Amino acid sequence: MLQGKTVVLGVTGGIAAYKACEIVSRLRKLGANVHVILTKHAAHFVGPVTFQALSNNMVATDMFESPITWDTEHISLAQKADIFVVAPATANIIGKMASGIADDMLSTTIMATKAPILLAPAMNTGMYTNPVVQRNMEDLKGLGVHFVDPAAGRLACGDIGVGKLEAPEVIVDRIQDILLTTHELAGKKVVITGGPTVEDIDPVRFLSNRSSGAMGLSIAKAARRMGAEVVLVSGPTTFDMPAGVECHQVRSAREMADAVAVHDDFDIFIASAAVSDYRPAEASDKKIKKTDEDLVIRLERNPDILKTIGNNKKAHQFVVGFAAETDHVLENAKTKIQKKNLDMIVANDVTVEGAGFGCDTNIVQIIKRSGEITPLEKMSKDAVAMELLKSIANSL
Ligand code: PMT
Repeated sequence: MLQGKTVVLGVTGGIAAYKACEIVSRLRKLGANVHVILTKHAAHFVGPVTFQALSNNMVATDMFESPITWDTEHISLAQKADIFVVAPATANIIGKMASGIADDMLSTTIMATKAPILLAPAMNTGMYTNPVVQRNMEDLKGLGVHFVDPAAGRLACGDIGVGKLEAPEVIVDRIQDILLTTHELAGKKVVITGGPTVEDIDPVRFLSNRSSGAMGLSIAKAARRMGAEVVLVSGPTTFDMPAGVECHQVRSAREMADAVAVHDDFDIFIASAAVSDYRPAEASDKKIKKTDEDLVIRLERNPDILKTIGNNKKAHQFVVGFAAETDHVLENAKTKIQKKNLDMIVANDVTVEGAGFGCDTNIVQIIKRSGEITPLEKMSKDAVAMELLKSIANSL
């Protein structure tokens, strides 16, 4: 996702500096070239060697200390950056940036860069809510600096409140938002279903499937990055719902159908949810007691959400299904295009390792109604989502 992109990561002196290691590692996995600048105080928390090993690049610490930082390292890093991130960002660096102070490697490099800047503050609640810090952040926001606001929780100092560095995955997601934003789907409303549905048998048992909701989430994030207005209707999942997306969390297929029906003004509908085709005909409101006999549960059909959408779509609406197959993948997927009146279907063979349910990768074939097939190699679900949406944008 970030191949060819250079991220300069400034790490300032706070206990959350250790979380910057995970940020570097996640960015590297996404293909980014990462350069780390450590302040002197940050180096007390995590040494440069750790960041050097994780980033595979020399770590800049102070302007005059090491030979590699002699000449104009701060200028070259400032120019190389596609994005400049400071995580954790202390009250001190925020104050320096807001006041135009450049007195060490990090602050001089930030001063020289023309790249977008993203700050992830982390500090004690009292410091964070201090009016001076708040004013400095407002000033920087006014100058176009992006922020990942800190989370609330138990802080290293023992206080409970706001000031915790946001999770590395959230910060890396935000970096991708800034670097990968396009306008290919600007003005379009994209409605996505994701995750499993859950059909209750009684208060303690249910019917469901192995979907984690990852594919739907990736599509929602990718659509948002391409400038669309995004609605995600998701079955139960352990993932946090993405920012900047209208999210509806549902449980059963009927709830999913109801939530989707409200958004029939979509331009693009993408059904990645694994919807239970059947539900128990009678759900018991009391726990079903065990007996010595076998138990028969009669199942009745759930609504086919995608088929209803496909059959009622208007001329300008583009409808995409997914096909989770275990055999005759192409044949079955093509049949679904016809049966559900789709413009496109994404077929995945869920028996193949690295594809389908639960994992963070997928191996899919994108099949257009015309019969044109685009097979994609194994890639992250985020990358599959990006390829899928590009293919949809080209088809509109
Ligand atoms: O959530 P993950 O762990 O990331 O896994 C991703 C995934 C494997 C769930 C995803 O890649 C996928 O294949 N989703 C479709 C799963 C599925 O139910 O396929 P299907 O062949 O049974 O259904 C075909 C299409 O009809 C799907 O788009 C489905 O959302 C839709 N459908 C099915 C039944 C129903 N009652 N209503 C529907 O809308």
